[in-house]
Amino acid sequence: MKTIVAYKSKSGYTKKYAQWIAQELNCDIKENAELSDIINYDVIIYGGGMYAGGFNGAKLITKNLDRLSGKKIVLFAVGSNPGREHEMQPFWNKVLTAEQQKNIGHFYLRGGFDFSRLTKGDKILMKMLKMRLQSLKNPTEDDLGLLAAYDNPVDFSDKANIKDLIEYVLK
Ligand SMILES: Cc1cc2nc3c(=O)[nH]c(=O)nc-3n(C[C@H](O)[C@H](O)[C@H](O)COP(=O)(O)O)c2cc1C
Repeated sequence: MKTIVAYKSKSGYTKKYAQWIAQELNCDIKENAELSDIINYDVIIYGGGMYAGGFNGAKLITKNLDRLSGKKIVLFAVGSNPGREHEMQPFWNKVLTAEQQKNIGHFYLRGGFDFSRLTKGDKILMKMLKMRLQSLKNPTEDDLGLLAAYDNPVDFSDKANIKDLIEYVLK
C-alpha cells in the first residue's frame, strides 16, 4: 500500500509527529501538500495544528473527499489542549459528519505551545487571548496552564502518542 503523511505545521509540533509517523510506517512525507501530491497514494494521513478551534489545512482532505474515495484516510490534529473527549468531539463534528467519522480515522496528538515561534499575526491573536485569560475571575486549570506557557514554552509531544494511529493504519 502506497502511503503518504501530508501535513501543515506552524511551529513544528505537527511536523515532529508527521516525521515520527512516516518513520514508523517507512512511507513518504510532504509538508504543505496539494491534491496532486497525494492523489496517487492508497493511504493518506493528514496532520495539522488546531487554531482557534479550526484544523490547519484539513480542507485539502475534507473538500476533496469525493476525489479521494476508495482510499484509506487518516487525520491527526495537534493542539495544546489535553484532548478531553468533551472538548475534542465538537471539534471533530465540525471537521467530519457522523458518517465520515465512521470511515475516516481521526486522532488527537497533543503538541505544545511556544509563543516565540509564532508568526506576527498569531502573536497578536494570542496576546488578545492572554488579556482575556488574565481578566477571568475564575480561571480553570487549563486557563492557568496556558497563561504560564506564554513565559515558559510547553511541549507535550511524545512518540508514544502515535501508537493508536499506527495500529489503525496497519489494520
Ligand atoms: C492563534 C492560536 C490559536 C490556537 N488555538 C488552539 C485551539 O483552539 N485548541 C488547541 O488545542 N490549541 C490551540 N493552539 C495551540 C496550537 O494548536 C499548538 O501550539 C500546536 O502544537 C501547534 O502545532 P503546529 O506548530 O504544528 O502548527 C493555538 C495556537 C495559536 C497560536
